[in-house]
Amino acid sequence: IRDQALSEIKNVSDVSTLNQKIRVSFLGKRGKITKVLRDIKNLDPKERPEVGKYSNIVRNKIQDAVAKKNQELKQALLNQKLKDEKIDVTLPGSPVPKGSPHVIQSIIDHICDIFLGMGYQVLSGPEVEEEKYNFERMNLPKYHPARDMQATFYITNDILMRTQTSPMQARVLEKYDFSKGPLKMISPGIVFRRDNDDPTHSHQFHQVEGLVIDKNIKMSDLKGTLEYLIHQLFGDKFDIRLRPSYFPFTEPSVEVDMTCFNCMGKGCNICKNTGWIEVLGAGMVHPNVLKMAGIDPKEYGGFAFGLGPDRFAMLRYGVKDIRDFYLDDVRFLSQFD
Ligand code: PHE
Repeated sequence: IRDQALSEIKNVSDVSTLNQKIRVSFLGKRGKITKVLRDIKNLDPKERPEVGKYSNIVRNKIQDAVAKKNQELKQALLNQKLKDEKIDVTLPGSPVPKGSPHVIQSIIDHICDIFLGMGYQVLSGPEVEEEKYNFERMNLPKYHPARDMQATFYITNDILMRTQTSPMQARVLEKYDFSKGPLKMISPGIVFRRDNDDPTHSHQFHQVEGLVIDKNIKMSDLKGTLEYLIHQLFGDKFDIRLRPSYFPFTEPSVEVDMTCFNCMGKGCNICKNTGWIEVLGAGMVHPNVLKMAGIDPKEYGGFAFGLGPDRFAMLRYGVKDIRDFYLDDVRFLSQFD
């Protein structure tokens, strides 16, 4: 029995045969060794001690052999697993598709860089805004007809989705400490208007607000600043021109055109043959806006502007539909990577 058991144990190569077949057939309740031990009681009393002792030795030997084999097989299994699952860390990884900033965000980042270089702060303000800042403080009292120019999403009576980034002027003005020197800031962000979406209208779009306040700021400072911006953004071949316009919060107000991207000033269907495309609104900050923020307009004054990066992007890249910027179709967006 011993030799048969040891040889079977030696030759087995899987754990379940070892434990469920071999071990059971020798050591189990009805196993061969168990049977010998159980039958001892039928032997001549004189033979019992000898047979008992020897059977126990054999049983222990088989038990030890099973345990040892179990250990061996487990180790072999582990070795095989380690071999199979070995990772070659020197192999190149599988490529992960690379994201990139949205084209509008790239333009905004570029604009921020240019103004940071001129010592401006870049601030962000709330998209859900108080009517007080969006309109009142921007010199648009209730029932002012110019409120209609900016159809508004109201949330409550006096809370709304900001229709412009201009409320940031009011927010900064009421807090600014002029002992720190002139105020120079830009504030990029999203604005909302209750327009029906079409190729040239989107109910949400971007603006970058700009504000400079100090003693002795002149219209020529505004013009020089905007000219520098356009030159930095698009190159020295582009010019700007100012046309009189109206905004309730600036006086005088101007609309600013730049050389048409498409025809470089020669005239084409995009610029209605003028050679110019309108890119932003601006002006000298209205005395009322300063007064409402607690600033004396006789002492301080300055300029403000609001530009639309979406329009920049459309004109520069010939995008015909503003909604493409907001649909997040990677096939469209990846063109600008
Ligand atoms: N807020 C104006 C608009 O949305 C733009 C603007 C900003 C005009 C600052 C003048 C000064 O149309």
